[in-house]
Amino acid sequence: MIQKPLLISKQTIQAVQDRADIEDIVGDFVTLKRKGSGKYLWACCPFHDEKTPSFSITPDRGIYKCFGCGKSGDSINFIMEHDGLNYIEAIRHLATKYGIEIIEDEQSDEQLAEQNERDSLFIVLNYAKEYFKEQLHTEEGKSIGLSYFKERGFTTNTIEKFELGYSIDAWDGFYQSATKNAYNEDILEKAGLIVRKDEGKKYDRFRGRVIFPIHNVTGKVVAFGARTLKKDDKPKYLNSPESDVYHKSKILYGLYQGKNAIRQHDNCYLVEGYTDVTSLHQSDIENVVSSSGTSLTEEQIKLISRFSQNITVLFDGDAAGIKASLRGIDMILEAGMNVRVVVFPEGDDPDSYSKKLGSTAFKTYLEDNATDFINFKTGLYADESAKDPLKRAQSIKEIVSTIAKIPDGIKRAVYIKESSNLLSMDESVLVAELNKILISDRRKDDKKRVEETTGEKLLEELITETEVKGTDYNQLVKIQERESIRLLINYGFNEIEEEFKLYNYLLEELEDVEFITPIYKEIFEIFKKHLESGQVIDSKFLIDNSEGKVKTEVIDLVTERREISPNWNDKFQIHIPHENEQLEAVVYTNVARLKFRVIQKLITENLAKMKSAESEEEQDKMFRIHGELKKSEVELAKVLGIVVSR
Ligand code: UTP
Ligand code: MN
Repeated sequence: MIQKPLLISKQTIQAVQDRADIEDIVGDFVTLKRKGSGKYLWACCPFHDEKTPSFSITPDRGIYKCFGCGKSGDSINFIMEHDGLNYIEAIRHLATKYGIEIIEDEQSDEQLAEQNERDSLFIVLNYAKEYFKEQLHTEEGKSIGLSYFKERGFTTNTIEKFELGYSIDAWDGFYQSATKNAYNEDILEKAGLIVRKDEGKKYDRFRGRVIFPIHNVTGKVVAFGARTLKKDDKPKYLNSPESDVYHKSKILYGLYQGKNAIRQHDNCYLVEGYTDVTSLHQSDIENVVSSSGTSLTEEQIKLISRFSQNITVLFDGDAAGIKASLRGIDMILEAGMNVRVVVFPEGDDPDSYSKKLGSTAFKTYLEDNATDFINFKTGLYADESAKDPLKRAQSIKEIVSTIAKIPDGIKRAVYIKESSNLLSMDESVLVAELNKILISDRRKDDKKRVEETTGEKLLEELITETEVKGTDYNQLVKIQERESIRLLINYGFNEIEEEFKLYNYLLEELEDVEFITPIYKEIFEIFKKHLESGQVIDSKFLIDNSEGKVKTEVIDLVTERREISPNWNDKFQIHIPHENEQLEAVVYTNVARLKFRVIQKLITENLAKMKSAESEEEQDKMFRIHGELKKSEVELAKVLGIVVSR
């Protein structure tokens, strides 16, 4: 029986927003470091791959922003992004973490209909999982599916733990059942459960197969792997297609069932297939995941690294497969993790070998045979190059390029030493090769960093640049608009004169100014709208109560990349005033500059019109306007201390 989804109450959401501490939440996943003024905390971004931190959090604003990949948001967004949850799921997660009671309102039928697609997908996938589980205990299910599982040694416990199932051998058994229960056909198709033919015929994707539900890290079913029971039926495993909730590259089979054990043992076994995972569980080894037959992705490595920094790769015993997998393992090293490998005898995989040896002997085998990856790889090449001296240079390159992936310098040095022993080769030869690679990598990195930071120029740089380029007044106005909004939402409540707050001043001055940049106009309108009902809002309010572009922009406006180094103060006895110490001057200048730029924009537009004027009368009018505008320009220029041409 599927329950009607519930809606979390506003109070609960508010309580979570109030309680969710960004430092605490982000700190669960990455190590945060203070530097500079300490206003921000920094870490290597959990959302993209990097070696130097460009991910910042601003604790007093409750927000994060990565200057590398641009991701930003508040605590709730962080959990959504990091764990792949939707808004409601993230709220639930955080409420549980902080022991906040979840108060729910039941959703009306309309709300139910409007419910977003992700929720619907989870619901039908869960329905399908229950359906397949039930089918395993029908007559057909027992005689075909269950007997297959028993024959292969699956215990009842395993069948329950992994929620295994069976899909009957008929064209539309599932489809009939799902539509009878009023599940939407489009969603069934999007979830990959049914296939629609051009003629409108529908049939089940999975027919006559045993079913392995694939869970995400929080335990929701997102896809299925279905193994055929017929000889020569292709493919052996039929998997769900990608969907809004299933991205193959971000899912690991077994992670949900194994994550606690991975944390406890501080190690994660990596295997190839579904049955390897279930067999290891039956051998009492629960810290295991499978990338399901495809090569490991960066996202999957990140997923594992949330629970442990140690991965042990279990290889089937064929040499070709091992060589092919070496590259993927470099990625794990690059993520700063430790890798060990275990190789099984030719023809065996973890599933078959664990059954051969039995639980105790298998565990001992794993412990005795786990070899550090770099030593393992060096061993592979040492054998080869001993036989063939011509291959020596190539071997060195191979091994050293792998060592170069390790971010930690001390670890690299240890491996260079060990490899030089294993290869019986002078350490200095390896070091020289290593440096060559490191220097060329660094060059690539620097180039990337320069490209990344160009989006983060200081206001002044932008202004001079635009001026040099041949004046784009729209751009100049936009810069000042941005600055006005930045001051408004950051310092709106600050008094710039007695009893006179910054927002009073800005609103008065900008009353007749029409913002030309849509996003700043929108934020300004939101501000004014709330003010009409007597509420003065700030950046925190905007972050909590808006989404999409507005939220991203606001976060951008409260997070500035450059920090004033306290060293300046200590080392050079130079006092660099923080901007809120001189707010009055800052905001006056901003308003003057904004008006100045708007006037200049109008002047150029007017001049263009004048050139293309049809009648003399019209031209005269433009000319008069030009005179007025010029006067204002000169006035404002005086205020700003700028000389303009007349
Ligand atoms: P294997 O062919 O080694 O399968 O593929 P297996 O896990 O040992 O399965 P059994 O023991 O024959 O039942 C390894 C993994 O590759 C993926 C599956 O995830 C499988 O577990 N695979 C394989 C597919 O996705 N599709 C296929 O057609 C074959
Ligand atoms: Mn197998």
